[in-house]
Amino acid sequence: AVERTLVLVKPDGVRRGLSGEVLRRIEAKGYTLVAVELKQATTELLAAHYAEHEGKPFYQPLVDFMLSGPTLAVVAEGQGVIPGFRSLAGATNPTEAAPGTIRGDLGRDWGLKVQQNLVHGSDSTESAAREIGLWFPGL
Ligand code: CMP
Repeated sequence: AVERTLVLVKPDGVRRGLSGEVLRRIEAKGYTLVAVELKQATTELLAAHYAEHEGKPFYQPLVDFMLSGPTLAVVAEGQGVIPGFRSLAGATNPTEAAPGTIRGDLGRDWGLKVQQNLVHGSDSTESAAREIGLWFPGL
């Protein structure tokens, strides 16, 4: 079915000037951009977005990292875009992510407490609906 996913170009990706490259890959794959907005995340938004990771050792470093600069929030649409974008993104750990993927081509391990892995993509229809509601309350 045609579905929508939430993609984030995290602060490391925005700082490194990779926003356009991520949008290019989404569009080159044939997905449609529905909404794109550069936003400064807040503690409240991140607490809701990352609720499932609360209590994990990387949670606070993750929130601090996500507060460190603006994030490019994107809603992309297409047949199978939820698993499709996860596949474009590659494995969570950029060292293990396959070449050809966003994280595999553009990411690396910086020796920090959190994986600075450039992008986020929703992992299910339920999380996509929830995350789109959080980042784009008007959509
Ligand atoms: P994301 O898809 O945004 O969801 C949770 C984030 O936490 C993940 O991307 C990484 O940035 C980070 N993360 C997940 N697992 C680990 C881990 N084991 N160690 C450090 N950071 C992690």
